[in-house]
Amino acid sequence: MTDGPDTRGFATRAIHAGQEPDPETGAVILPIHTSTTFAQDTVGEPRGPFDYSRAGNPTRAVVEAALASLEGGTFGRSFASGMAAIDTALRSLVRPGDHVVLPNDVYGGTFRLLDKVFTEWGVSYTLAPVGDVDAMSAAITPATKIVWIETPTNPLLSVADIAAIADVAHAANAKLVVDNTFASPYLQQPLALGADVVMHSTTKYLGGHSDVIGGALVTDDGDLAERFEFLQKSAGAVPGPFDSYLLLRGMKTLAVRMEQHCSNAESVAAQLDGHRQVSQVIYPGLDSHPGHAVAARQMRRFGGMVSVRLAGGRDAAIALCERTKIFTLAESLGGVESLIEHPAVMTHASAAGSTAAPPDDLVRISVGIEDIDDLLADLDQALA
Ligand SMILES: Cc1ncc(COP(=O)(O)O)c(C=O)c1O
Repeated sequence: MTDGPDTRGFATRAIHAGQEPDPETGAVILPIHTSTTFAQDTVGEPRGPFDYSRAGNPTRAVVEAALASLEGGTFGRSFASGMAAIDTALRSLVRPGDHVVLPNDVYGGTFRLLDKVFTEWGVSYTLAPVGDVDAMSAAITPATKIVWIETPTNPLLSVADIAAIADVAHAANAKLVVDNTFASPYLQQPLALGADVVMHSTTKYLGGHSDVIGGALVTDDGDLAERFEFLQKSAGAVPGPFDSYLLLRGMKTLAVRMEQHCSNAESVAAQLDGHRQVSQVIYPGLDSHPGHAVAARQMRRFGGMVSVRLAGGRDAAIALCERTKIFTLAESLGGVESLIEHPAVMTHASAAGSTAAPPDDLVRISVGIEDIDDLLADLDQALA
């Protein structure tokens, strides 16, 4: 269930899209519909659009309309996790014998799904650097059905030129799927740049409070949306009504949260840049980032994620992760609280030994929205 394109501003849509006050009671916050089933007056004819909550649920329908609106898309579909959304996108678009192009620093879970599950079903993949359009183009084969990108990537924050990669994918009759988790729809809207599908781990910035796992797919392609919906009900990896409500509640403040995440991340990147313990700061907002110009063109701001490489190597990276007091050592990202982690051992362990494995001197920081002076002081003491 979706609304069509909505021309109101982003922050207005985040609060109101699909969320008019309840017509029966006037409740400004919509009820959480826990019912698994819906009454029918005559056999096979439900009273409204819903018959059984795996196939469709009113609370889920509202969040799907809001997700579509925020991405400027027509159809939104939500899932029990980001991985369930990725699995649905892949199963909708590839068959045995097909091929997928993936970033060479793709999220470890996406890599594992392709490498350990889809290859068993005869799907192959090639890893390529998303920052290099020619290399992405060279990785496409006649069997390629999907060019899959993240931008910025997890964890190396590589930036892909979405419009240019959409052109090379479409020239080869492949679909472009963009995992927009790191940017969030507030900073970047890939459908407008030519992507066919936008995917989210809504667990991250969209939810924003580290209290709900979820995933989403948004597209303008009605046939694809139907396939996503068919897999929602056939495979059943759907979010429950309480999870849908938590996501909806988090999404309302996405615009203000993202502004603060970006401001704080810019300050963290500036402080760490040039620190004697740090050999490289990777942040798309820095002039030194090879994707800076593309990011400035296609993103509103540069995001809340900062990655750093430590001059002292693996041990120094682990020590930094273990010494911070406000930045919690934990996987995940995109919540209001600052997190820090060591991708090679934690989030990206499943890519160990492959060319998608992150360097072991790398630390990934999800900069939260706490007071910036406290965050900078914490990093300072942890690096002392
Ligand atoms: C970029 C990216 N995509 C997809 C996922 C998977 O999402 P989930 O953990 O909600 O299944 C993650 C999780 O960290 C991620 O960072």
